[in-house]
This record gives sequence, C-alpha cells and structure tokens, in this order.
Amino acid sequence: MRLIASLILLTTPFARAALFTNPNDVPVKRYDFIIVGAGTAGNVIANRLSEDSSKKILLIEAGIDDSGILNIEVPFFAGRNGQTAVDWNYTTVPQTGLFNRSVTVPRGFVLGGSSSINYMVYNRGSLDLWNRYAAITGDSGWSWNAMKPYWKRTSTLVPPTSNPFLPPPPANNPTLSNGNGPVLVTRANYPEEIHPRIINASKILEADATQDGRFRYTDDVNTGNSLGFGYIQEANGHGQRCSSAVAYLRPAMSRSNLDVLINTRVTKLLKKKVSFSPEPSFNGVEVAQSIDGPRYTFRATDEIVLSAGVIGTPQILLLSGIGPRNELVSKGIHVYAHSPDVGKKCYNHPLLSLRFTVNSNNTFDDANRDPALQQALLSQWQANRTGLFSDGPSNMLGFMRLPDSFFNGTSDPSSGPRSANMEMVFFNGYSGVPPPQGHYFTLTPVILSPKSFGSVTLASAEGDTFTNPLIDFGLLSNNFDVSAMLQAIRDAETFISTSPWTGYIIGPYGDFANATTDEQRIEFMRRNAAHIQHPVGTARMGRDDQAVTDSRLKVRGVKGIRIVDSSVFPKIPECQPMAVLYALAERAADIIKEDHGMSGL
Ligand SMILES: Cc1cc2nc3c(=O)[nH]c(=O)nc-3n(C[C@H](O)[C@H](O)[C@H](O)COP(=O)(O)OP(=O)(O)OC[C@H]3O[C@@H](n4cnc5c(N)ncnc54)[C@H](O)[C@@H]3O)c2cc1C
Ligand SMILES: *[C@@H]1O[C@H](CO)[C@@H](O)[C@H](O)[C@H]1NC(C)=O
Ligand SMILES: *[C@@H]1O[C@H](CO)[C@@H](O)[C@H](O)[C@H]1NC(C)=O
Ligand SMILES: *[C@@H]1O[C@H](CO)[C@@H](O)[C@H](O)[C@H]1NC(C)=O
Ligand SMILES: *[C@@H]1O[C@H](CO)[C@@H](O)[C@H](O)[C@H]1NC(C)=O
Ligand SMILES: *[C@@H]1O[C@H](CO)[C@@H](O)[C@H](O)[C@H]1NC(C)=O
Ligand SMILES: *[C@@H]1O[C@H](CO)[C@@H](O)[C@H](O)[C@H]1NC(C)=O
Ligand SMILES: *[C@@H]1O[C@H](CO)[C@@H](O)[C@H](O)[C@H]1NC(C)=O
Repeated sequence: MRLIASLILLTTPFARAALFTNPNDVPVKRYDFIIVGAGTAGNVIANRLSEDSSKKILLIEAGIDDSGILNIEVPFFAGRNGQTAVDWNYTTVPQTGLFNRSVTVPRGFVLGGSSSINYMVYNRGSLDLWNRYAAITGDSGWSWNAMKPYWKRTSTLVPPTSNPFLPPPPANNPTLSNGNGPVLVTRANYPEEIHPRIINASKILEADATQDGRFRYTDDVNTGNSLGFGYIQEANGHGQRCSSAVAYLRPAMSRSNLDVLINTRVTKLLKKKVSFSPEPSFNGVEVAQSIDGPRYTFRATDEIVLSAGVIGTPQILLLSGIGPRNELVSKGIHVYAHSPDVGKKCYNHPLLSLRFTVNSNNTFDDANRDPALQQALLSQWQANRTGLFSDGPSNMLGFMRLPDSFFNGTSDPSSGPRSANMEMVFFNGYSGVPPPQGHYFTLTPVILSPKSFGSVTLASAEGDTFTNPLIDFGLLSNNFDVSAMLQAIRDAETFISTSPWTGYIIGPYGDFANATTDEQRIEFMRRNAAHIQHPVGTARMGRDDQAVTDSRLKVRGVKGIRIVDSSVFPKIPECQPMAVLYALAERAADIIKEDHGMSGL
C-alpha cells in the first residue's frame, strides 16, 4: 500500500519541490543537505545536488519570493530595488576615508539573492585571477584552465531583442566564451547614442602609442584577458533579468527531493548531539521568522552548506561560535573554533561618479523623470521585451591597467597583467535621481584592485541574525586607492577629450566642475565616493592558518560545514563578481558530489 502511494506521488504533478513559507509546515526535520541562503550561489548548489534523486535537500531563505516583481524582471529597473521589500537595507559604519559618511549596502532579501537585484554584468575575471586562486589555495582545480568546463556549464549567449547596430560576435568566438548553461546572457538589447562614441574613443586612444594600449577596444573580456573597452555581457535573456532563481532554482523545483523554505532566517548552526570526532561537529540549523518568534531545528545527515553571502555567512559563523576567539568571548559566545579571519579581509570596489551635461536629448534622463514616457516604455517592454527598458542601465564598460609609471616601486595589488586595476562605467544619463531639467552623461571610475579593506563584526550577540552586523569596508582608507582614483579621473578626462565627444559633452556638472587640483579632487572624492556593491572575502579560502575554509571550501577547525558564496574569495575579482561566483559554485557542487559519492558528476 505504501509503495503504491509513493508511486502515485512520484508520477503525479504533486511530486514536485515544495515551497514553504512557515517552518511549521515542513513535514520532515532531517535532510541529507541543508543549504542556507537561496541566493546567487545557493541556488546553484540546490540545483546541482538535487540532480541526485537519492538525496533530500532543504534550502532555507530569509527573504521573500521573487515571482512577479517588476523591479526585478525589468532590466532597466535594476537600480530601483534598494531600500524595498527585496533588500536587507544594510548600511556601513562611518567610513573614515569618506569623511565619516555611512553608505548603503544593498543585498538581495529574496529568492535569487543579490543576482535578483544586481546590474547583471557578466564577467569571468582573468586568467591571472584564477591562477592566483590556485596558487593561494594550493589547488590547481581553481586554475583558469581547470575552470573552463564550469564556464561552459553556467551560461548561454542569446541574441539581443532589438539592436540592429550591435556588431555580431567575432567568427573566431561566436558564443563570446559562453556555453550551454542555464544563465542566459546577452549584450546591449538597445542602441544608445553614446555607444559609437565609446567605441571610437577607445579605438582612437588604442592607436595612440603614448597611451600604451591602456584604452584598447575588445569584443569579449571573458577570454582570459579581461582588459579593454566594449559591450558588456549581462545576465539578461530575451529582455528579462535571468537571476539564479530563474536559471537554477525554478528548473529544480520540478524535483521532489528539494524543499524550499522562505521568509525564514537561520539564526545559528547547531552541534551534533553525539559526536566522537576531535573537532566540533555541526549538523543542525536553528531557524526563526522573527526576533522573538519560536525557534525550529532542522538536521542534515551529510552536511550544511552556508550560502548566506558576504554579510550573512560570517554573521552566522560568529553567532555559532566560529570566529576570532577574543571577539566571541567579548560577546559572551561560546567558542567552538578559533577562526581569526571570519568577518575579516572584506574587500570592496570604491566608485566615484563624474557627471557631465550633454548637447543631446537622447539620454535616459527623461525616462527617469517623466511618468508618461515611463509608462510608454513599460508597455513596450511588456509587449515584446524591446526598447530602453530591456537593457540594464549601463551597457558598455572599460577595463584598464594603471600606467606602469604609476606604481613608483609600490606593489601592484592586481592578480597580474591580464587583470584590470580599474574600470570605467558609462551611463547614458544621470546615474541616480536626475535633476528636474537637463540631459547628462555619467562616467564612473571604479578601483578594482583596492588595497583598502574592512570587516563584518557582530553588533551584539542578542537578536541573532535579526540584528544587523557592523559593516566596515574601509573605503578609501588606504592612500593607494586615493591615488588610483586620481589617476582614474585623469584617464576619464583623457577619454572624453577625444574627437567623438566634441560637441556632445558640454562640461562637468555639479561639484566636480570646481574640483581641479589634486587636493580639491581628493576632497570631492571623500565627499562623493561610494562602492559598486562587490564586497567579498569575509570567510576566505586558503591554506594558511588564518584562512576560514580549505580549498574544498570546508570550514577549518570544525566538521560538517562548507561555504559556497562570495565570502570565500581570497582575493577580490578585478571585475563584477557574479559570473566568477557562478563558476566557483559549479565547481563546489562537483566537489560536494565527489566527497559524498553522489551521482551526476
Ligand atoms: C545593487 C547591486 C548591483 C550589483 N551589480 C553587479 C553586477 O552588475 N555584476 C556582478 O557580477 N555583480 C554585481 N553585484 C554583486 C553580486 O550580485 C554579488 O557579489 C553576488 O550576487 C553575491 O552572491 P552570494 O551568493 O554571495 O550572495 P547573495 O546572492 O546575496 O545570496 C545570499 C542569500 O542568503 C540569504 N541569507 C542571508 N542571511 C541569511 C540567513 N541568516 N538565513 C537564511 N538566508 C539568509 C540572503 O537573503 C540571500 O538570498 C551587485 C550587487 C548589488 C547588491
Ligand atoms: C527593507 O526596507 C523595506 C522598506 O522599508 C522593507 O519592506 C523590508 O522589509 C526591509 N528589509 C528587511 C530585511 O527588513
Ligand atoms: C571621523 O570620526 C572620528 C572618530 O569619531 C574622528 O576622530 C574624526 O575627526 C572624524 N573625521 C571627520 C572628518 O569628521
Ligand atoms: C532638446 O529638446 C528641446 C525641447 O524640445 C529643444 O529645444 C532642443 O533643441 C533639443 N536639443 C537637442 C540638442 O536636440
Ligand atoms: C515592439 O512593440 C513596440 C510597441 O509596443 C513596437 O513599436 C515595436 O515595433 C515592436 N518591436 C518588435 C521587434 O516587435
Ligand atoms: C607615483 O608618482 C606619480 C607621479 O608623481 C603619482 O601620480 C602617483 O600617484 C604615484 N603613485 C603612488 C602609488 O603613490
Ligand atoms: C565612429 O567611427 C565611424 C567609423 O570611422 C564613423 O562612421 C562614425 O561616424 C563615428 N561615430 C562617432 C560618434 O564618432
Ligand atoms: C564653482 O565655483 C564658482 C566660482 O567660485 C561658482 O560661481 C560656482 O557656483 C561653482 N560651481 C559649483 C557647481 O559649485
């Protein structure tokens, strides 16, 4: 009778993954794997592990369902999710390098995590970056060559929805380094007036021998050499955001061995009740839906995978007694493992927006301030996913080295000659809320190989994960980054002083107009800089004593916990990190399968 019942279950449409919104409703308390965080990396792990139907998997997400949220789906609305129901609403502590300003730290509080709210830029990093990961961890499996199959497994290139001016991919690289994976990737869906100017300016400066090729044009930054100006690739399929929830989680929801619990936070990890291993062995998670609500416990037979992100993961580790001894003791938390770098080595990319007024009406400013135009563009997007709204807000980028002469004997923090020190982001309008009148161009330099770093520490041990931790990125606290930003401003000026911008750019806008000396520019920088939302490193992998995980991403000093998210990067990617993370997560899934003798390798 039971056999027949389960056969019916397996063959009916009800034999699907269940989406629970209350821990009370989850019928089972023990799984093979528990994954904490249905974000960018967590969904990759949930998908790949559930390919083995003999394993039962529970995926727990603090945030909400992503279904039907327009600001997530419409690529152009990428910047509108901060401080809404899908954001954690974090802010930093006062940043000494920014005249003690606090800046916001958006993080996705929703299925798909930050891949549901980010700008979708899809960059793999350079050959040097990955080879450096291999060297730091002593694991050649992280090298560029060894990682190639995982790029192919992650993404598929799809054509733009309506951009007749986009040059086709070159014949020797027709997929632009993509393969046949679930993340759909495209280039500019919609032509913008600034695109040909950017291309021409880059080609003019590439031909100028005095510039050492620093402004070169490129068709593809994902070949291993990540330098150059050109069209970005973005995780956008047929005019709509392709998050990790869309690419990895939804397809896995057809499997009966995956349960997903949302609106529920993991408050801490729990030790095994009986264990004979010399190291503390963890196999449980405690969860809750509110700060004073009831606590529930789930157990994992095989292991717990922490994918709560660069803020959530160190917070959970610290609350579970894994972290720097003194910090834990001072908060009254029992120390299970002294792990000095939990929450440390938090690197991020500082940015500074330079705005200019332009002699054109073809910018996106009107779309950001005229409700009637906005409605028309939204109707067009809804009709056939074309037009301005089918693209992210920025569609061309430039990845540059600092000049050799810049270093003066100081060390280059980047991974090597194919990694960028900085990036130029172009917006065909005023980035942020535009002034009521006028048309703009924004050129935003970003420092990709910063020397500044900070930390994530507990504000208090009370309130578990319902109290935000203290986030300090140390933005512009190291003078190297300040000097690099000054150089980036000079490079931005070189770029826009080329002939394609003549008659287009009228002049600098706002306080930047009066910041002409280095001293004034440093002040302008400290008053206006922010970050491009790429923090990493708070649970870094490595083989030295301070590293939080080993090269197979297992937390050192304990048993039963692995980390797969942006906190494990031992070095900040010199690019947008999402695609770098997708590849890391794909390999992590293989490592987990291998360690547990699972099928689907
Ligand atoms: C606004 C913005 C723009 C960006 N633009 C780009 C870009 O264009 N290109 C790019 O490559 N990168 C970009 N990034 C960075 C990139 O999105 C992130 O680095 C990446 O998505 C991080 O993935 P993750 O898996 O580490 O964490 P996340 O994707 O943030 O996932 C962590 C998940 O864990 C959940 N969680 C946390 N704590 C708990 C808990 N206690 N219990 C249960 N669940 C929990 C969270 O709610 C979240 O869903 C951007 C980021 C932001 C915020
Ligand atoms: C962030 O703020 C928005 C708007 O106030 C709110 O709806 C959301 O729940 C907040 N996020 C969290 C994690 O509390
Ligand atoms: C920033 O705060 C610190 C500590 O409170 C203080 O010493 C310093 O003077 C402040 N700096 C500025 C520019 O306000
Ligand atoms: C922009 O539009 C205004 C109002 O229609 C017009 O007066 C102006 O000439 C236009 N500017 C350009 C550069 O086309
Ligand atoms: C998409 O729809 C708009 C109007 O809604 C129309 O003008 C346009 O031609 C359509 N484009 C394509 C490629 O179908
Ligand atoms: C090296 O010297 C140049 C020229 O004086 C200067 O612009 C640059 O900022 C210096 N580099 C560093 C890292 O201080
Ligand atoms: C860019 O260069 C092409 C080819 O030389 C030229 O046809 C076009 O007019 C230029 N466009 C701009 C905006 O400079
Ligand atoms: C720049 O300085 C001039 C002269 O002091 C002043 O008139 C102008 O308003 C300033 N511009 C900005 C944008 O602050």
